[in-house]
Amino acid sequence: MKLKAILVFLFLVVGLIYGDEKATKTSKAKESSEICKKCKCNPDEKVINCSKKGLTKMFTVDDWSALEEVGDEYEILRMDHNLLDEIDVPFPTLKSALKIIDFSHNKIKKIVKNAFTNLSYVEEIDLSYNDIPTEALKPNVFEGKYSADEYEPIKTLKILKLSFNLLHNFDDDIFEHVMHLQELHLDNNPLQVIHPSLMSAFSDIPQLTYLNLSRCELKELPDSIFHPFKALKVLDLQGNLFENVPTKALYYAKNVRELYLDDCPIGDLNEKNSFPVMPNLEKLSMTYMQKLRKISHGAFAGLEKLKELRLSNNHHLSSIEDTAFTFKKDDETETIWPPLRKLSLDNNNLTTLTSDVFIKWEEMEELHLHDNPWICDCELNYVLSHLMPIVNRTTPHLIEHIKCAEPPAYKDRQLMELKNEDYHLRCLDKYGRHPENDSALLVALLIGVLLGIPLTFACILIFKRLFGERKGAAKYSRAFYKRADMQDDMHI
Ligand SMILES: *[C@@H]1O[C@H](CO)[C@@H](O)[C@H](O)[C@H]1NC(C)=O
Ligand SMILES: *[C@@H]1O[C@H](CO)[C@@H](O)[C@H](O)[C@H]1NC(C)=O
Ligand SMILES: *[C@@H]1O[C@H](CO)[C@@H](O)[C@H](O)[C@H]1NC(C)=O
Ligand SMILES: *[C@@H]1O[C@H](CO)[C@@H](O)[C@H](O)[C@H]1NC(C)=O
Ligand SMILES: *[C@@H]1O[C@H](CO)[C@@H](O)[C@H](O)[C@H]1NC(C)=O
Repeated sequence: MKLKAILVFLFLVVGLIYGDEKATKTSKAKESSEICKKCKCNPDEKVINCSKKGLTKMFTVDDWSALEEVGDEYEILRMDHNLLDEIDVPFPTLKSALKIIDFSHNKIKKIVKNAFTNLSYVEEIDLSYNDIPTEALKPNVFEGKYSADEYEPIKTLKILKLSFNLLHNFDDDIFEHVMHLQELHLDNNPLQVIHPSLMSAFSDIPQLTYLNLSRCELKELPDSIFHPFKALKVLDLQGNLFENVPTKALYYAKNVRELYLDDCPIGDLNEKNSFPVMPNLEKLSMTYMQKLRKISHGAFAGLEKLKELRLSNNHHLSSIEDTAFTFKKDDETETIWPPLRKLSLDNNNLTTLTSDVFIKWEEMEELHLHDNPWICDCELNYVLSHLMPIVNRTTPHLIEHIKCAEPPAYKDRQLMELKNEDYHLRCLDKYGRHPENDSALLVALLIGVLLGIPLTFACILIFKRLFGERKGAAKYSRAFYKRADMQDDMHI
């Protein structure tokens, strides 16, 4: 009994001391540092959260040293959603190994040189959603510390986000200090053209694996733009102004695994407007393409590893030819299909889908066919018998939106209902598209044939009579002409 009591007492004391120590530590931080007074400091998660605090100024060197006195170490600094219009003081040398710095959603127009030089551990800098103009972004902004083998590098910087700014060009040497970049976000800047200086800047960052150039008002890409990026895996080009697939540029994107080309005014795809051989492409997204009506032979030839294809919300897309995805390898005769596992064809203007577009349908993990004006005739039997069970297995929640638009008898009927009722879809006649009238047509045909026999006899009879009469008429006219001829002679 006594021992137990003593133990409980000891636990309590230890707990109290420990808890007290922690409490004084945080309160000390709060009292003594301006930074933790204004922001939420969370030493356990190593986050200084200054998000949405109405800040207009960077912290001073004194602010930082007051914070450092407490002894807590931080890795993440969130300064997003504030009113900073300038990064006007470089970060001082800190005990904390700051890894992520988020300055997004401010009004930054200027950045002091050597702003990040002292941050020897920084891995990610987010400057997106600011007002940074081309002139404000100089190579020395990203200058690091002296190193014998590289030019004042920030070797640790892997991710740089510059999305949603006012950048239309870049200095040739903008990346000379951050040559180990792996992720670069340049999307939503008014680039309009990829200038030679940006091309030259790109050659400094060969380790890039992710490049976001979406919504940069680009009409075309220089042929060799992706040539420096041997490791590029994710490429986002959506929302640009390409009217054709940038075939030549993509030719050098040999290792890209994910490609986004959504919302570009790219026209019909065919052998001329097609993808180059992209031997590693696994995911391709082309949604909201306003100009895409037809996908024909050869459009996707050469995407031999394609696993996921998103072709939805292309409201004018009405046909996909069955050889759009097939191809043959050099000097081989065997036809190759991509090993597709996920396919989205929803919200298009498709009326039919042939089974030969892909093979191995049964290996599909996702299949979206809903919201298309399907014509439920015999051509759709394969969809009904083979693909509906796959949809039912993989994406059943949308199955009720797979409906017939035609023929009138099946209008707005769900394909699933037709399947459950074991329908076998009939072929439509060329003009009427009314298979429900087929029986009437058959009866009409039968009546026609039955009436035809006596009618033929009747015709023969009438013909014989007419033939006789015509003989008479011919005689009469010959006599008339003769008389006229005689009259002519008399005039002369
Ligand atoms: C930071 O604080 C803001 C509000 O002040 C909050 O919405 C956000 O979730 C916090 N973020 C983190 C990572 O703690
Ligand atoms: C780096 O840190 C030191 C010491 O805190 C400071 O004097 C200096 O101004 C900082 N900035 C640069 C660019 O070196
Ligand atoms: C590219 O950036 C846009 C806008 O910031 C974003 O919506 C999109 O998801 C990014 N693309 C990829 C592949 O991460
Ligand atoms: C869909 O295709 C039909 C022909 O099958 C065409 O008449 C119609 O205009 C197309 N709709 C759109 C939105 O392109
Ligand atoms: C669809 O799947 C459910 C169960 O997942 C099953 O009960 C139903 O019979 C399936 N329908 C068809 C037509 O395969």
